[in-house]
Amino acid sequence: MFVCLGNICRSPMAEIIFRDMAERACRSNEFIIASSATSDENVIGGSGAPVYPPARKILAQHGLSSEGKRAVQLKSADLKKYDMFICMDRSNMRGVVRILGPGCAGKVSLLMDYTGRPGDVSDPWYTGDFETAYRDIYEGCSGLLEYLTK
Ligand code: 4NP
Repeated sequence: MFVCLGNICRSPMAEIIFRDMAERACRSNEFIIASSATSDENVIGGSGAPVYPPARKILAQHGLSSEGKRAVQLKSADLKKYDMFICMDRSNMRGVVRILGPGCAGKVSLLMDYTGRPGDVSDPWYTGDFETAYRDIYEGCSGLLEYLTK
């Protein structure tokens, strides 16, 4: 489960990029791949918001479709369903612990910690730079898939 604040930019990008990578490696049957938000901002009023247009655009430029993805909020029942809660930044980690409780600690990590550049994914909501966010997330997903092979 990839997690960010709004589930309209970074974590849907991670979900879509990682699914594509796993499919290309013929390994998608090993995983349940999803993404969610710590905030309820984009899920209020029934169906969640679609992927934010600039994120859709950068994914499309890399041949990936965001069709059908709608924002959902992380919920406590997800703790049992998923083995890993992979966060885009440190504040998302605090949000995950708030929702899932202290029992989730061993399942929570940062996406960039699977790379040689640990830390936060560049946040395009504030930088406006979706290409840098894409590059960070791609590198993180690639490192994650390699980690899951070991
Ligand atoms: P995301 O981006 O967490 O990568 O989906 C954001 C989306 C919405 C907001 C902030 C970041 N917001 O403040 O509404």
